[in-house]
Amino acid sequence: MKVAPSILAADVLNMERDVQRMVEAGTDWLHVDIMDAHFVPNLSFSPALTAALHKRFPALPLDVHLMMDNPEKYIDVFCDAGASVLTIHAEIPGDVATLLERIRARGVLAGLSVKPGTPAETIRPWLPLADMVLVMTVEPGFGGQKFNADMLGKLDALRHMGYTGLLEADGGVSMKNIETLRAHGLDVAVMGTAMLGSATPKEDMDFIHRL
Ligand code: DX5
Ligand code: ZN
Repeated sequence: MKVAPSILAADVLNMERDVQRMVEAGTDWLHVDIMDAHFVPNLSFSPALTAALHKRFPALPLDVHLMMDNPEKYIDVFCDAGASVLTIHAEIPGDVATLLERIRARGVLAGLSVKPGTPAETIRPWLPLADMVLVMTVEPGFGGQKFNADMLGKLDALRHMGYTGLLEADGGVSMKNIETLRAHGLDVAVMGTAMLGSATPKEDMDFIHRL
């Protein structure tokens, strides 16, 4: 199983140090949350930070999570900034299929995310276009929230629907629920508070990699 530490939990004045620590611990990806203060009630990072991270850590795949109402304006911007995975939300007003196709056409993995209230069935038509489905296990917008165990059923539902791409969970993921998530088919664990705040990130990542 892969791990994607979320820099939402990093010390913004020591971003390079915190990311370096994750790299030294053996991280697979780095999760970068982009919030527009409209799709979610918070603002976070920018294309400039994404590009700076890619320049400083060129071998580290950036897993960019667009919590935005209008991601169409930013798909090329984040592909140019160095995203390896670019995830949009199913709840946006735009044309999800076209956007997923645009991401793939850039040679970037296309991710599709669902908020807790959005059933797996809603995204069935788009599954063939998604390299990854990101199941939100909290309401998106803030780190440090409690994991919603009801979302384990959504992971099961996606597999029962025949989805064979990557499954990622985001929100409240920790060493306490990681084995349960794996048992429900998870491939990539986004971990903010639990990994950035860990005193033993290498041991934690080694454990996750063995799952
Ligand atoms: C929440 C973000 C998450 C956040 C997770 O809206 O999408 O990526 O960083 O943080 P933790 O792991 O602390 O719940
Ligand atoms: Zn996220």
